Amino acid sequence: MSQTWWRGAAIYQVYLRSFADGNGDGAGDLAGLRSHLPYLKDLGIDAIWLNPWYPSPMADGGYDVADYRDIEPVFGTLAEAERFIEEAHELGIKVIIDVVPNHSSTESAWFKEALANPAARDRFWFADEPLNDWQSIFGGSAWTQVPDGQWYLHLFDPGQPDFNWNNPEVHQEFEDVLRFWFDRGVDGVRIDSAALLIKSDTAYEDLDEVHDVYRRWREVADEYDERILIGEVWLPDQERFARYLRPDELHTAFNFDFLSCAWDPADLRRSIDLTLATHTPIGAPPTWVLANHDVTRPVTRYGRADTSFAHGGALHGTPTDLELGYRRARAAALLAMALPGSVYVYQGEELGLPEVEDLPDEVRQDPMHARSGGTNPGRDGCRIPLPWSGDEPPFGFGTGPGAATPWLPQPESWRKLTAEAQRTDLGSMLNLYRTALRIRRELLGDGTLTWLPSGEKVLAFTRDSGLTCVTNLGAEPVPLPAGEVLLASGPLVDGLLPSDTTAWLSPQG
Ligand code: NOJ
Repeated sequence: MSQTWWRGAAIYQVYLRSFADGNGDGAGDLAGLRSHLPYLKDLGIDAIWLNPWYPSPMADGGYDVADYRDIEPVFGTLAEAERFIEEAHELGIKVIIDVVPNHSSTESAWFKEALANPAARDRFWFADEPLNDWQSIFGGSAWTQVPDGQWYLHLFDPGQPDFNWNNPEVHQEFEDVLRFWFDRGVDGVRIDSAALLIKSDTAYEDLDEVHDVYRRWREVADEYDERILIGEVWLPDQERFARYLRPDELHTAFNFDFLSCAWDPADLRRSIDLTLATHTPIGAPPTWVLANHDVTRPVTRYGRADTSFAHGGALHGTPTDLELGYRRARAAALLAMALPGSVYVYQGEELGLPEVEDLPDEVRQDPMHARSGGTNPGRDGCRIPLPWSGDEPPFGFGTGPGAATPWLPQPESWRKLTAEAQRTDLGSMLNLYRTALRIRRELLGDGTLTWLPSGEKVLAFTRDSGLTCVTNLGAEPVPLPAGEVLLASGPLVDGLLPSDTTAWLSPQG
């Protein structure tokens, strides 16, 4: 891969706790991931991004980090993580980890020290009384009182105290943490809540000083070869968003505008045009994301009347046509993979997993559910352990006869969706992703697109290689331009592209 492997990479997101359970305790781990590396190689991805793998009390699925330089014992050991990085590299797969700089865990050494000693509180936001009326992003107040009467700030769960980035020790700590992992061969970091680090008395989102942090981080990354910084930046204002991607800051950032789009030709085209207009002038490659561990799975979302995504508006139990959602998710996958830049695949997306909406309240673990008083279903439904094989739970997630029940229950109906069942079915979602990623590696990725004239319900464009991508979002079948069909998300009907289908046509001449 070139110096700029990341510009067009296909990046697979591993939510470790739900990927594969190597020791049969009911939770995914590094042993499970390592044993499935051949699956990922065969799928055709370029890189793996892992959600936080550090020691954590799991108040927020590991985004409450107790120690940034070690591995959660449930997941394995530091030595195993190093082995995993080597094994991935041997297969030509890059490794991206998650770094969480906005907040820590109440179980971190620094926070425990702060609790024990009021003179050691400056690395966090402590005050005699709440300094403002900020609400936690998960619901409830963003301030929690400690036994001696002081209050600390947590933009998320009370288990996630926010760092005070006015303190130089915090800067130093994170620069060291980056080096710790880059020294171990990690190829990139995904930066959690990247726009929230700096606080004033009245605001915490996207304050200008946050860019000083990332300029410094870029210098650290540039001390190494080909290491990248990826921002989790949820900002509707594209000009503000683009500032994170200036040449001396982050390399890329997730495209949440595209992820949040409805399955609607005008909305998608608007978002694609906006994305390209935002990225082209600064020379940063766009990213295309349909799913992650925080959002409703596309198969479910695209089968509803409202196909857009919004955190606050996440719903369960709304009427859903899963067959329709599945067809659209296939079409959306080919659309996303054809666009210029890098693309993300969230584990299980390649199996066409739906959101699991009927989890009993007592098994739900997401603080978003608990802190909203149950009004928000939370994100457990997109984090269900993967079905690998067999006819009944745990579907090969945990191996061996004594394998414990997975930490979140899998639906019986997933027997049809296991990787094993899909491997031999040429029409499966898994084989669509495998074929698409193979073609993409050769003909798509970084570059530009040229829109082709089309009806208003159709998105049609040609890429640098000459490959043409056509998505029909209208109700009626449409004719395709000249060219051999390399791949389609569903069968053509009398040579026409049906509703909710994408086709890739080979380069001409
Ligand atoms: C964004 C992560 O994707 C999400 O899962 C987490 O809850 C918050 N940041 C807080 O760390």
